[in-house]
Amino acid sequence: DDTELDARIRAAKQTLGDRVVILGHFYQREEVVTHADYVGDSFQLANAALEHPDAEAIVFCGVHFMAETADLLSRPEQAVILPNLAAGCSMADMADIDQVEECWEQLEEVYGDMTAVDADGRVPVIPVTYMNSSAAIKGFVGRHGGIVCTSSNARTVLEWAFERGRRVLFFPDQHLGRNTAKAMGVPLDRMPMWNPNRPLGGSDQETLTDARVILWHGFCSVHRRFTVDQIDKARAEHAGVRVIVHPECPMAVVDAADEAGSTDYIRKAIEAADEPTTFAIGTEINLVQRLAAEHPQHTIFCLDPVVCPCSTMYRIHPGYLAWTLEALVAGTVENRITVPADVADPARVALERMLAAKP
Ligand code: 13P
Ligand code: SF4
Repeated sequence: DDTELDARIRAAKQTLGDRVVILGHFYQREEVVTHADYVGDSFQLANAALEHPDAEAIVFCGVHFMAETADLLSRPEQAVILPNLAAGCSMADMADIDQVEECWEQLEEVYGDMTAVDADGRVPVIPVTYMNSSAAIKGFVGRHGGIVCTSSNARTVLEWAFERGRRVLFFPDQHLGRNTAKAMGVPLDRMPMWNPNRPLGGSDQETLTDARVILWHGFCSVHRRFTVDQIDKARAEHAGVRVIVHPECPMAVVDAADEAGSTDYIRKAIEAADEPTTFAIGTEINLVQRLAAEHPQHTIFCLDPVVCPCSTMYRIHPGYLAWTLEALVAGTVENRITVPADVADPARVALERMLAAKP
């Protein structure tokens, strides 16, 4: 049962001491978060992986792409462990490396030499991948002069990319790409969406020539559920409500909200509110419920009345955490995530560009 699991995790953690560091994403359930040494958004957890070179093992309570990123940024001797290997991300799976390579080849047919710089020193296209993508995709981006972004630095990263390229190919999340570029003043008609099921025709050539951002077709199934109707209802029922949504939400939802930002932006916005405030939040339910519990002076609720956990984040059951920690105590490493060197080297380049890009 839960109490027994909790005690087992505590005991194993105590035995391991500084040998292990446990990282937990904001979307993890409470029974897992309570054991994490660091809780944060995907950008903060990537940094936390970098900042613990002395730990033998990093147990990553999050999803697969986050554990891969931790492996890329940690020392080679450190083992990064994902307690349940089935904890993936459906959005990350929407950008498959073969499809991305194919897209790039088709773009080459339109733009010519992708390494040729114009009078302003810019290449035709800079690829930008959201952190929510496989290491193979990050490797592709690293090999082609591109960069990684998270929802907390997407604008800074797009500015970096526009300094170096006339256009950006942004994947996998169409919504983060569209919402960020729109906020930067890029017109919607200059953000065509790549369609892998339809080969490029004549009219696409013109659209692509004018394009500033070429969007991939990916989305997050959790954030796609939020609607403008939910926001209208929240405003009708709660006078003065502050609506904050994650930029993975569709554009109409971001436009109807008062603010949009990463999971850490949402947390900080609530922490900074001096007066008792009503917040309607458009992001994953575990984070919303935790913020509500931590801030009883405010009224905080999720925009979606039907509870919407991220089903893959939820696969990190405390039972898996207990099992991987007890294995470490017994001297065995279970569920290690290792990115092969041929992918890791260029993927690290793309990540390091992100870490170095300053607002
Ligand atoms: P953050 O970068 O805001 O942590 O978001 C990660 C994620 O998976 C959101 O769905
Ligand atoms: Fe992926 Fe969405 Fe879950 Fe984030 S909330 S890990 S984008 S499926």
